[in-house]
Amino acid sequence: MTLRCFVIGHPIAHSRSPLIHGTWLEQHGLDGSYERIDVAPSDLPGFVARIRAGEFTGGNVTVPHKEAMLPLLDEVSEAARAIGAVNTIWRENGRLYGDNTDAAGFLGHLDATTPGWQDGIRTALLIGAGGAARAIAYALKSRGMARIILANRGRERAHELARVLGAPLQARDWDERDALVGEADLIVNTTSLGMKGQPPLALDLAHLRSGTIVDDIVYVPLKTALLTQAEARGGVIVDGLGMLLHQAVPGFARWFGVVPSVTPALRARLERDILGA
Ligand code: ATR
Repeated sequence: MTLRCFVIGHPIAHSRSPLIHGTWLEQHGLDGSYERIDVAPSDLPGFVARIRAGEFTGGNVTVPHKEAMLPLLDEVSEAARAIGAVNTIWRENGRLYGDNTDAAGFLGHLDATTPGWQDGIRTALLIGAGGAARAIAYALKSRGMARIILANRGRERAHELARVLGAPLQARDWDERDALVGEADLIVNTTSLGMKGQPPLALDLAHLRSGTIVDDIVYVPLKTALLTQAEARGGVIVDGLGMLLHQAVPGFARWFGVVPSVTPALRARLERDILGA
């Protein structure tokens, strides 16, 4: 029996998850499928009923359903509850489970490409305070980061996130961001600024210390202006594509029973797709 999986969102046409899971299905010769399905917000409960009825094994959930899906499930992981959103769901013994693998994906990519990145690190500076910031702040807190500073355009949102996740998060004003660059050992752009078609991220790296890790979750383009500037100033750069690849691993393992690998060949396939976009 073919195991059917999905990625749902609205819109969903540009999701690259089918390329990732399709590559792994092919590589492992599995009888499974992974399809994009556009689900409008008002149709979400109806779609969940279809999963419960056995039409699908599981799948990924993306914008705008990540938060709305949470209360529709029977059980969610500690990460999903803390982040307040799910991106991976599955059915088991008639029950629906949810997890959030963004935090694990963020860390998995850093661990794989920048071994020892945590050594001597004290302060992380996160730009943004949306859903991605929440997952990344949760991830860094789970690794014992001493200080996690949030700088967000909207002040209240940063304070709210710091309040929800607690110490060691702290919110600072948006106007302080350029000066805070000099205090950070790790800087993460958690917004979509700098993505093709979006405004650039206005962050001055004049105070960047050599060896500071600069991680951008944006992956179109693969090397953002932020990363290019950071590299020129002696920063250690980490791009966003790896997080996308690593967040996909736990879902595939859960649905199809095989732990897939993030290989250079898989990455190259995604890079070709992004360059052709
Ligand atoms: P996601 O769930 O993908 O993180 P989101 O919740 O919409 O997306 O969050 C987007 C983030 O980008 C927010 O931190 C947002 O700042 P505000 O809270 O002030 O809206 C930030 N952002 C979006 N456009 C921005 C801009 N032009 N300048 C600065 N920050 C911006």
